[in-house]
Amino acid sequence: MSRRKGTVLIIDDEEEIRESIELLLNSEGLETISAKDGDEGLAKLEDHLIDLVLLDLMLPGKSGMELQKEIKRIDSSLPVVIITAMAGIESAVTAIKEGCFDYVTKPWDNEKLLVIVNNAVKQRQLMSENTQLRRALKERFEFSNIIGKSKVMLHVLNLVSQVAPSRSTVLVQGESGTGKELIAKAIHLKSPRADRAFVPVNSGSMPVELLESTLFGHVRGAFTSAIAAKKGLFEIADQGTIFFDEIGTVGPETQAKLLRVLQEREFMRVGGVETIKVDVRVIAATNVDLAQAVQEGKFREDLYYRLNVITIQLPPLRERKEDIPLLVDFFIAKYREENNKSIRGITPAALKALMDYHWPGNVRELENVIGHACMMTLGDTIDVQDLPPYLQTAGSTHDLAQEPPLAAAETESGMGTLEDQERQLIVRAMQTAGGNQSQAARLLRIGRDALRYKLKKHNL
Ligand SMILES: Nc1ncnc2c1ncn2[C@@H]1O[C@H](COP(=O)(O)OP(=O)(O)OP(=O)(O)O)[C@@H](O)[C@H]1O
Ligand SMILES: [Mg+2]
Repeated sequence: MSRRKGTVLIIDDEEEIRESIELLLNSEGLETISAKDGDEGLAKLEDHLIDLVLLDLMLPGKSGMELQKEIKRIDSSLPVVIITAMAGIESAVTAIKEGCFDYVTKPWDNEKLLVIVNNAVKQRQLMSENTQLRRALKERFEFSNIIGKSKVMLHVLNLVSQVAPSRSTVLVQGESGTGKELIAKAIHLKSPRADRAFVPVNSGSMPVELLESTLFGHVRGAFTSAIAAKKGLFEIADQGTIFFDEIGTVGPETQAKLLRVLQEREFMRVGGVETIKVDVRVIAATNVDLAQAVQEGKFREDLYYRLNVITIQLPPLRERKEDIPLLVDFFIAKYREENNKSIRGITPAALKALMDYHWPGNVRELENVIGHACMMTLGDTIDVQDLPPYLQTAGSTHDLAQEPPLAAAETESGMGTLEDQERQLIVRAMQTAGGNQSQAARLLRIGRDALRYKLKKHNL
């Protein structure tokens, strides 16, 4: 965000007035540009980045009113403040109706003028920041950000485009790290709700009571710690999209409540009596097979059918290996920028190691590997020795115990802490996961085989 205070264009035919306003605004740290009539004003408007126009209504040539309309045509969100003699107040009021920001009468009060100018400039900057942010965000999640030319991925993108415009519920299914959240966001950002909230809920990690008050909010006094009423995520997502991550892990009570919201589009806050209506699009994601969970009695069938209006199945990376080179290039470009390095590519041998691997952690794991390699590489090309040890030996399982060349290099350069840090991370993950290797591997965003290898390597 820039720290500049803003630039004001002053359009007035009287030199004295222009100069005294310039002085006043400059003393406040605002930049000024002046024009003596409409045509000069419009020309300056096209040549400079203006945040506000101060416009005299009584101008020779084009009238102030006409000018205001033209300014709006050039930049509809540019605030215009009218300067007018007392006699012109009526036209000033009309100008306001037509969308000008405010007006001041001549002779003006300096303090008042400054307040109006500062407010207008602030609003302008907020607005352009918001639109810029939104645009950046939108672009980020346009398909340019979802890499994949394989048939399966093209099919997925096609589906995304098809389902985005409607409000229908979508279930995104796929293994861990296949891009479920990325796809959910893409649906939201391609939908008419793009300018509203996208609210992710990680339903799996929360105890029931907390989840319910998180989703539906609560009234004051609903439970001991509810000292004030609170909006739930459903209310926050109103007009937007709510994204249920790991829907398969939601317990039976919450399943029942969710079903009701999906059916009725209304709910009550915890402890409340008033029903609240919302217009929310629901996207859910799961990495377990929900149909099977239904068969096993772990997931309500009726909820499953509600969620499963449209299913998008994300293929695991090992089933679309032709996308690996594209993804590699994409992530190299991303991490090259982040690390400020001039990495140009990857050697054929290193790429082959990536192609030969089975990627249990899917795209996320690949991204981590490339991120790591970009950090490690000393040259401008990622080579086999820049890859994590378990990939250097992928395909030749006999070599698993072989001492990775990296570790040796690290110790010699006195940076042996990397190994220590890795060991600590693994210990922490294993503790957090209560000894469950699959879960620890997920926490570390690596595959299970990779974790086993590392456990062995560190004698854990
Ligand atoms: N097709 C793709 N193109 C570019 N980046 C991708 C793609 N798929 C996934 N990614 C990236 O991989 C990472 C993991 O994606 P995401 O979080 O969407 O996966 P997920 O399926 O929700 O994973 P999990 O089950 O672990 O929550 C993110 O950084 C995402 O941007
Ligand atoms: Mg996810």
